Amino acid sequence: MVPPVTVEELRQTFLRFFEAQGHRRIPSSSLIPYGDPTLLFTTAGMVQFKPYFMGLEDAPAPRLTSIQKCFRTTDVEEVGDESHLTFFEMLGNFSIGDYFKEDAIGWAWLFMTDELDIPVERLWATVYTDDNEAFELWRRLGVPAERILRYSAEQGNYWYSGEVGPCGPCSELHYDFGETPGCAECEGESCHPDVGCGRFLEVWNLVFMTYSQDENGEKLPLPTQNIDTGAGLERIAAVLQGVRTVYETDELRGVLAEAETITDRIYDPDGDPGVLAAQRRRLGS
Ligand code: ALA
Repeated sequence: MVPPVTVEELRQTFLRFFEAQGHRRIPSSSLIPYGDPTLLFTTAGMVQFKPYFMGLEDAPAPRLTSIQKCFRTTDVEEVGDESHLTFFEMLGNFSIGDYFKEDAIGWAWLFMTDELDIPVERLWATVYTDDNEAFELWRRLGVPAERILRYSAEQGNYWYSGEVGPCGPCSELHYDFGETPGCAECEGESCHPDVGCGRFLEVWNLVFMTYSQDENGEKLPLPTQNIDTGAGLERIAAVLQGVRTVYETDELRGVLAEAETITDRIYDPDGDPGVLAAQRRRLGS
């Protein structure tokens, strides 16, 4: 089997993989959430499924998969680094009271290592502080204990859909690019995904969606135990295409090329952004 390379191949491979595991394919919803006063924009694949998680409506099927167009105003300050876009696409598989941690973790691992052929030693997992079950599930798949980290809510391992609404502890997969110049500050062995030195890229978040937070900040159990996952399409494509930034993946490279033509400037992540292409041509570089 040849792993996907282009962004479009990755989209199709993801949907086909989860359809083969019994998921129903659901189209992306609008960027403007329908009937949801708690959100300005659609920020995740689960947004259109919130009524199912909350037991307010019946889901069309207990297993769903989608590629959701997302917009995150909260990422605006990060846009321009290697991995953040305001607009991006989220690959997702969802369980509405059907499978739970074991299958969510098992399929994420199978997809990454078998379907995409990503070397196992490049993947690190994180689990919520006291989630021994998720820890053991990653261990059983062969992830060494030193590459499974326990992160708190502050470190990103508790996911909230908004100030009110479904939430739950989560478990993430991170891709390890290997040591980078930023690692000099990590003092060797203390380097891990949350340090933010550029060595790691968060690629997939698996949320064990079991609570709903109300206006007072109280967490009440949802009627069922659910799974909500989100993998970054552009981030996984960067891994597969061997580039370090989401801007250099095949689809966004085309947008950059157009921007280069319109602005007469050359995209060069390592260069002086102010240098005009025309100046470069004059300089013969
Ligand atoms: N809803 C989860 C997220 O956006 C998967 O990270």
